Amino acid sequence: MLVNGREILAWAVARRCAVASFNTYDLELTRALIAAAEAEQAPIFLAAGAGALEFAGFTLLSAVVLAAAEEATVPVAVHLDHATHPALVERAVAAGFTSVMVDGSALPFAGNVAHLQAARTAVGPWALEGELGGVGGSEDRAGSQHSEVPMTDPDEAAAFAEHTGIDSLAVAIGNAHGVYKGEPRLDLDRLAAIEAVSPVPLVLHGASGIPDGLIAACIERGVRKINVNTELRRAWFEQLAAGLALDGGRYDLPAVFGGAMESVTGTARSFIRLFRDGASGG
Ligand code: 13P
Repeated sequence: MLVNGREILAWAVARRCAVASFNTYDLELTRALIAAAEAEQAPIFLAAGAGALEFAGFTLLSAVVLAAAEEATVPVAVHLDHATHPALVERAVAAGFTSVMVDGSALPFAGNVAHLQAARTAVGPWALEGELGGVGGSEDRAGSQHSEVPMTDPDEAAAFAEHTGIDSLAVAIGNAHGVYKGEPRLDLDRLAAIEAVSPVPLVLHGASGIPDGLIAACIERGVRKINVNTELRRAWFEQLAAGLALDGGRYDLPAVFGGAMESVTGTARSFIRLFRDGASGG
């Protein structure tokens, strides 16, 4: 069922665990991700970014994602990821999205606040996520950790949340979108300092490639929503390539795509278990 993102955040806060936010680009990924949530009987955020909406077409992709969420047997929030343009926020809310992330992290503090205050009005009762500091890499492509990207300043976090009215705060603690170069290094002390002052739950972007133990350490320090994209695309493409190699020139679309969907479902289930149950996955 389609629910307000606030409800799912509250679920994670009450359980002191984290909910998965998975990015989708099309019908097949959407179905594979919902299947994972249903198999684990867990709520999820189903996220579409501006790039995905542009690629698939806003009308078509939003219709697919919203219909899939409504049909699901578990709570699903349909989330607009990394919106930078107010027009896209308004369009998503009008279409029925129940959660929005407005990315003003490239702006100075006051500009980021102003951006989010305007979005707060547009988003109304639905969940609104802001970001303070910058997460390196790009949303849809393999990125890398950038040492020049500023991290979230704990001294600014409380005022940021209060002035913007956000429901969750995405942190920059050394995390990056895409594939990490070497071992990711997260500033856990900074995360603990942010948690100590933040009136809202924290969000970790760029979870692909972060070891399980480090994910668990982030959950212990107040992260309640975790975004995964690249690892799902990796599962999709690797199985697609393997399936095509075995297809023998039949171009059996349901078989080849079906195999890739199963792989994405399996990967997504592992993340759901890790975020919900901790590093043991049990
Ligand atoms: P990854 O692609 O690194 O998993 O990041 C996903 C993300 O943060 C989406 O907002």
